[in-house]
Amino acid sequence: MDLLFVERLLVGLLAAAVVAIAVSKLRGRKLRLPPGPTPVPVFGNWLQVGDDLNHRNLAALARRFGDIFLLRMGQRNLVVVSSPPLAREVLHTQGVEFGSRTRNVVFDIFTGKGQDMVFTVYGDHWRKMRRIMTVPFFTGKVVQRHRAGWEAEAAAVLMMYSNVYRIMFDRRFESADDPLFLRLKALNGERSRLAQSFEYNYGDFIPILRPFLRGYLRICEEVKETRLKLFKDFFLEERKKLASTKAMDNNGLKCAIDHILEAQQKGEINEDNVLYIVENINVADDAVVDGVGDRGARVNHGEIQEKLRRELDTVLGPGRQITEPDTHRLPYLQAVVKETLRLRMAIPLLVPHMNLRDAELAGYGIPAESKVLVNAWYLANDPGRWRRPEEFRPERFLEEERNVEANGNDFRYLPSGARRRSCPGIVLALPILGVTIGRLVQNFELLPPPGKDRVDTTEKGGQFSLHILKHSTIVAKPRAF
Ligand code: HEM
Repeated sequence: MDLLFVERLLVGLLAAAVVAIAVSKLRGRKLRLPPGPTPVPVFGNWLQVGDDLNHRNLAALARRFGDIFLLRMGQRNLVVVSSPPLAREVLHTQGVEFGSRTRNVVFDIFTGKGQDMVFTVYGDHWRKMRRIMTVPFFTGKVVQRHRAGWEAEAAAVLMMYSNVYRIMFDRRFESADDPLFLRLKALNGERSRLAQSFEYNYGDFIPILRPFLRGYLRICEEVKETRLKLFKDFFLEERKKLASTKAMDNNGLKCAIDHILEAQQKGEINEDNVLYIVENINVADDAVVDGVGDRGARVNHGEIQEKLRRELDTVLGPGRQITEPDTHRLPYLQAVVKETLRLRMAIPLLVPHMNLRDAELAGYGIPAESKVLVNAWYLANDPGRWRRPEEFRPERFLEEERNVEANGNDFRYLPSGARRRSCPGIVLALPILGVTIGRLVQNFELLPPPGKDRVDTTEKGGQFSLHILKHSTIVAKPRAF
């Protein structure tokens, strides 16, 4: 480290300490804050609690400080709620007050400061984006129109990316070696790594240190530009070209981007918004890929696979491949999907919420622009609220929890959130998961890699998403009919 760097760092920290103390004095007088560990100047609680605030660590803090607690991460406030009534308050009763999203220095880059739908604040832009995206993406009709495509993908085991690309662009990837697919996958992976990393926390939590993040932010800018250019050149422009030469439909099937481009032509949104919609859908698709990719739980439970296979054989007849309408008469399959989403939630803390103005929650004052996390994983895995929650036991959704759905009808189980900012894509994700898992189990016996007796399902946390730490190869042994 050179001396100038150290000098600037020390001056920065000192200035941040003075500002932090002044702000906390002002704030402290006004609001009765939720409980939490005692913060120190500048760093707040950051050094005490560390970077990895994953759902398990936050559940441990909830056991210490209660259903609502506050952490000061540098200059940012983080409020965590961990009970169904408080989740209801944040997502439903005060859904408008807490209906915005926090941003950070890196998400600002990837979303063009909230020009997308997922990370935009609650207001007119969000309403417009949600309206424009609903017809092309988020209705039961979309499921019916596209299900033949998904069934073909499931049969081809397993180009999951193609499912959403079929809806969006009426395009599919020929194979996992398709060069365009490989570039897209690499760029999506890099975007996810850069956004979910803890590496940039220091510059995000302590604004005065932000200049030291310049290199990191430059890489984020480059990845974002390359990725949006790829969406534009290979998908949007191609689709526009196609539209100018022949009718934009495939047997009467207008694809989602045609609707979005129409909204652009009408002047409702601009080209950047169109690109950010494509970006959002790419990111959302990862949740589905993870849901199917989470074979660990099923591979490690041969008896559950066997029971599911028996249901498929009995209801459909051996060898008759499952299609979307069948999923409605396969209760055990539905229970397996729900249990997968419960035990290994793809987005265990939901997408962070935020209050634009000072608010009140459980009698505490919540300073404006706090990041508000609902620990959905804890709500669905709390031994006080579920019977033996650590077990992968789909039967619970046919027995004691038979009335619980994945659409937020029970505030203990929120894999897709609830109410205003809940996941509109779950209407697509559930049938895709059902058909894909169904086909896998129908046609293969899934086994751990040779020499191992189970798949390692250790998790790796990020800013708010959850992945499997080590990707394992599994054995898919074809079944004889
Ligand atoms: C199993 C798959 C999926 C899971 C578990 C999932 C889960 C979630 C969760 C937890 C949220 C945040 C809710 C909140 O903050 O309160 C969310 C938001 C969202 N999801 Fe999904 N999702 C999945 C698939 C999809 C798919 C396939 C799409 C699109 C095709 C999609 C589009 C979105 C969008 C646009 C939002 C933002 C909604 C808003 O901010 O208003 N999701 N999702």
